[in-house]
Amino acid sequence: MTEEQSEVTLEEYLHTALKIARQAGNVAKEASLLDKQVETKTSTADLVTETDKRVEELVISQLRHHYPTHRFIGEECAADGGKYPELTDHPTWIIDPIDGTTNFVHGYPFSAVSIGLAIDKTPVVGVVYNFVMDQMFAARKGGGATMNGTPIHVSKCTEPTKAMILVDTGSTKKERLLQSKFDVTYKLAKEPNPVESFRCIGSAAVAMCSVACGIADGYYENDLHCWDIAGGDIIVREAGGVTMFPTGDPLDVMRRGVLCAGTQELAAKLVAFTKQLEFPNTI
Ligand code: IPD
Repeated sequence: MTEEQSEVTLEEYLHTALKIARQAGNVAKEASLLDKQVETKTSTADLVTETDKRVEELVISQLRHHYPTHRFIGEECAADGGKYPELTDHPTWIIDPIDGTTNFVHGYPFSAVSIGLAIDKTPVVGVVYNFVMDQMFAARKGGGATMNGTPIHVSKCTEPTKAMILVDTGSTKKERLLQSKFDVTYKLAKEPNPVESFRCIGSAAVAMCSVACGIADGYYENDLHCWDIAGGDIIVREAGGVTMFPTGDPLDVMRRGVLCAGTQELAAKLVAFTKQLEFPNTI
């Protein structure tokens, strides 16, 4: 294990990320009470506000101050730069300043600052702060997962018929992606072995943390980005759950989807369907 991955170092990274996420969340929460300037990005449902940009600048500048040799991938910088960011083995902070921007715009209470640190392309530290509900989810490799400092655990659900599953229409308007998501969800919703219930909450990071703390049993999506899932990935795994690409392949945060569940058994039963999902062509 390198020094960067030692428990002491990871704990220190987590401590720093927690402080910055709280500060960023406070800025976003204050801004949530004011009028918002909303612009669109890749589709009419892919929104960005001036607060997303301000919060991202704050998070990256603070992290860079602490870790000048690390790399950074932020949702809004990526949108501005035009070129899809590359993830290397180098320690890289992956930031979504407000995951659930549409919720933020509408006042729907699931919006979070998401910060993940990947080393060797795998998240090892994650913080997801739902600043509306003041819920701080956190984890580092080998240290367990917490919400507001209290350990959290996934549910033990193994059967779709007893499971609450989260899915989202997302911001894509591409027919191929939407059609496959609705087809898969329809197949999972109907007899002979229907999923008990589906919910849509509009933030991938909060959805993953909902699985991590056991209030939902699984979640899948086929049009996400690394910033939506990097923080949540380690939180789910440290809470005892599993994360993967919806085809059943190991999770690669640079591929454009995720499936997570409280148990391997439930994940396998969902993968039998989610492996039919379509994904964006870009990595
Ligand atoms: C969105 C949320 C949403 C997911 C969308 C994402 P953003 O992120 O995570 O749950 O369905 O695909 O784009 O744009 O609010 O950061």
